Amino acid sequence: GWTMDAYRDIAIAKIREQVGDKQVICGLSGGVDSSVTAALLHEAIGDQLTCVFVDHGLLRLNEADDVVAMFRDNMNLKVIYADEKELFLGALEGQSDPETKRKIIGGLFIDVFQKYANEIEGAEFLAQGTLYPDVIESVSFSGGPSVTIKSHHNVGGLPEKMGLKLVEPLRELFKDEVRALGRELGLPASFIGRHPFPGPGLAIRCPGEITREKLDILRQADAVYIDQIRKHGLYDEIWQAFVAILPVRTVGVMGDGRTYDFACALRAVTSVDGMTADYYPFSHDFLGETATRIINEVAGINRVTYDITSKPPGTIEWE
Ligand code: XMP
Repeated sequence: GWTMDAYRDIAIAKIREQVGDKQVICGLSGGVDSSVTAALLHEAIGDQLTCVFVDHGLLRLNEADDVVAMFRDNMNLKVIYADEKELFLGALEGQSDPETKRKIIGGLFIDVFQKYANEIEGAEFLAQGTLYPDVIESVSFSGGPSVTIKSHHNVGGLPEKMGLKLVEPLRELFKDEVRALGRELGLPASFIGRHPFPGPGLAIRCPGEITREKLDILRQADAVYIDQIRKHGLYDEIWQAFVAILPVRTVGVMGDGRTYDFACALRAVTSVDGMTADYYPFSHDFLGETATRIINEVAGINRVTYDITSKPPGTIEWE
């Protein structure tokens, strides 16, 4: 256990010593680890840090705007917003195999990150939000898929390829310590307490072929669901919650008419580390109210189901 105000000062001194007057780049995902890494580096070396935020078109509603606004406008970090939505969604067109989708996203992510990083004059360091458990456990966190948590977020292999040295200021910390450090650095509580979000984003919550239409519907439904969870004060009790849009249309009735729209599944789990998980026991009232809101508020969905699979045998994500 570290005291975070002390840790912060030591970490800042170490970063300054390691980096000197050189430039550092950092991939910013908006997740807790990369956010705390960026905030800490900014405090240590100010404008010698440039962050790259890649928008692969698979983010949640308003996510790109929120992350960029917070770091660029509120915290004054240099953030390059890499709008590569067309590139990723174009490459994913017609693909429905889960592993293929992951490989496409992981591969493009590295290409894109490298392209933007190359434009940053004189960069010698790459900052990564590697935590202590990542250091001691090199196993794939996501149970086998080719793009694992770390290989995706930490753009694995890139530092060597680009001749960059690594800066990993969170290497000695556990997740709860990273959160405490984030608070110490003034990151908003809402950001620090966010549920994990996978690197491949909404792609793995859209089983089968990904279309812009499905992604738009999924974003709307997910926003309503998370709003419901927050309104009922359940957000912090849940490890992760999201909507998956199913690759099937079903028949419904609305007013005098017949509808033929997508079905979706709500997912919510409790977990300690993501390796095992239990489905969250929502009340029937909550589920009923949420289903009604989604069907009323989201054009394109006429049926809502709740996923009651635990892990194992299920995975948390749908792909
Ligand atoms: P699963 O679905 O394997 O997920 O039970 C366990 C945890 O890992 C996250 N996850 C990923 N995170 N890149 C990531 O950054 C990935 O490729 C990936 N796959 C799964 C998932 O959201 C959950 O928290």
